[in-house]
Amino acid sequence: MVLPVNGTREALFALAQAVVDRSAARPRVLMPNPFYQIYEGAALLAGAEPVFLNTTRDSGYLPDFDRVPETVWDDCQLLYLCSPGNPTGTVLDIPTLQRLIELAERHDFIIAADECYSEIYSDETAPPPGLLQAAAAMGRADYRRCVVFHSLSKRSNLPGLRSGFVAGDPQVLQAFFRYRTYHGCAMPPATQAASRLAWQDEVHVRDNRELYRQKFTAVTDILQPVIDVAPPQAGFYLWPRTPIADTDFARGLFAEEHVTVLPGSFLSRDTDSGNPGADHVRMALVAPLEDCIEAARRIRNYIERINA
Ligand SMILES: Cc1ncc(COP(=O)(O)O)c(C=O)c1O
Repeated sequence: MVLPVNGTREALFALAQAVVDRSAARPRVLMPNPFYQIYEGAALLAGAEPVFLNTTRDSGYLPDFDRVPETVWDDCQLLYLCSPGNPTGTVLDIPTLQRLIELAERHDFIIAADECYSEIYSDETAPPPGLLQAAAAMGRADYRRCVVFHSLSKRSNLPGLRSGFVAGDPQVLQAFFRYRTYHGCAMPPATQAASRLAWQDEVHVRDNRELYRQKFTAVTDILQPVIDVAPPQAGFYLWPRTPIADTDFARGLFAEEHVTVLPGSFLSRDTDSGNPGADHVRMALVAPLEDCIEAARRIRNYIERINA
């Protein structure tokens, strides 16, 4: 039920290759929009059509599952979830996860829950729930159709180590394992040893969360007078709306203040109801506290000049 992987990026990609049946009439892979780029590439290279579920301010920055037509659920072979979300920081609750597990059963698809931000959250007493937790609470000890992805990259600030794991439905993991024997390789022993230490220690993870809280408080205090922005439920991004087009905002901010943010439209696709990333930027609070404060001051100066 558990397999180590050399980072979750490769695993998120490989899972689609292992489980999508490209001989189906219309294989579809559903994912949030905006999204972590790997989901889309994985779907396309597995021969499936990516279907984008917009997460907007109106939907509380959650995918609106109610708007998915029955026929699309019927064609769905794989659903990517990202909770806590990159870039929105929103969290799917247990009832929603359980509803999705029921939908997966009814329409015969697999849920790939990317939970790599699950240990960066604001309320120490309320960690984000996970898909396997939701399945277990329904009495599903076999975690049928459910697979989760966890990483040391965020919780332990170890993106360079390339270490994570995949856990869930043993039948799905069997197919994934077989696929992985061709493109992946075993985790090097030194990485295994370092990973074991990192997973066993929670003190640095709590300290890390506390540091993010300090950064979110300091940065949002500086920015709130000029922009509508609030600390997220989880994750380490701010996802504010921009007063001008997101690409212009990012380019101007870099040119004038030497601060890099990611235009939201680079993280999302156009849909019939627009591009949900447009006029947003993603600000990653991964730099040291002092640098985040300095960046926030510069962003504020920049916005004040735009608004003047
Ligand atoms: C949503 C999401 N999933 C997965 C990853 C991949 O992380 P890693 O491959 O380092 O485990 C990232 C990295 O930025 C991410 O933002």
